[in-house]
Amino acid sequence: MYQKKFEDMESLTEELIEKLIARGFTSVESLCWLNEEELAEKIDIDQDLAKKIISEAISFVDQKPLSAVDLLAKEEKRQKISTGSELLDELLGGGIYTGEITEISGEFAAGKTQICFHMSINVQLNQEKGGLNGGVYYIDTEGTFSSTRIAQIAQSNGLNPDDFLKNIAVTRTYNSDHLIFLVMNVEKLIKERNIKLFIIDSIASHFRAEYTGNEKLVSRQQAVMKLAETLKQLVGRLDIAIVVTNQVIATIDENIFDKSPHPALGFAWAHRPHQRILLRKGRGQARIARLYDSSRLPDRECIFFITEKGISDKEK
Ligand code: GTP
Ligand code: MG
Repeated sequence: MYQKKFEDMESLTEELIEKLIARGFTSVESLCWLNEEELAEKIDIDQDLAKKIISEAISFVDQKPLSAVDLLAKEEKRQKISTGSELLDELLGGGIYTGEITEISGEFAAGKTQICFHMSINVQLNQEKGGLNGGVYYIDTEGTFSSTRIAQIAQSNGLNPDDFLKNIAVTRTYNSDHLIFLVMNVEKLIKERNIKLFIIDSIASHFRAEYTGNEKLVSRQQAVMKLAETLKQLVGRLDIAIVVTNQVIATIDENIFDKSPHPALGFAWAHRPHQRILLRKGRGQARIARLYDSSRLPDRECIFFITEKGISDKEK
């Protein structure tokens, strides 16, 4: 279901939309609660127009529940993208799903970016080979995107690098506002370029660099929530998979028994991903992935390797 915006409403002019936003209205739904006198008074219009706006808003709001059977059919239609490792795919219930936000977190060199690189190739393959014949939009917030490494993964898997690199659109962001702006305006690009995989590598870096100190925590949480909400809406209405990497931070609170590293950005972000994968380093190129917080799968772990060929089940 596509969530309607003020811009979709015929009864609203740009000027009226500005007035609504200035008065704190953020969604079409927020108009449905008002009566015409209240709306007329709040944005200084006559009651006939207010009535028209409210009835249009009500007609937009989805009131008919779907049966669980319909929802099952919808869930079964979701498609999967292979990570490159069969074991990691199995851990995820077959791969990374469209219609879902998947978070990959872990310490430095844990393999977060390498998984994104390999998936940027795999999503372009056909379904039999673990892909969706789709393109990639890659937001690089840390400056670690590497066409050379993606070309190497393609080549060592017997693929022509140029065929794959051309379907990966990349933006390097310079601050959190830039990131939020891009995400809020990404829909056109996704549709034009048949994007099936949208990657943000990583979601945490700008926020952690810009919002330092406890006094900035509230505004940071608000900015993260805005980004998270926009991502949730995108994945809900477009047939894409969203993969977001996240840094980990150590627990320093004396009262918390479990001191193991956990993903950054706190509660504002923690409940948004449909599943979370935490990576840790094993011996050599081995990596351990732990799946948790999945709405459809139990917590569990698997091992994979980072090799010249990308993400793999074999060490060499
Ligand atoms: P940060 O971005 O620093 O937080 O880490 P990350 O989790 O994104 O790490 P990344 O995915 O970049 O993994 C880096 C690791 O991948 C390196 O330490 C190497 O172990 C491995 N790696 C990268 N390129 C190659 C390669 O060409 N061959 C092999 N065998 N391993 C590689
Ligand atoms: Mg990285």
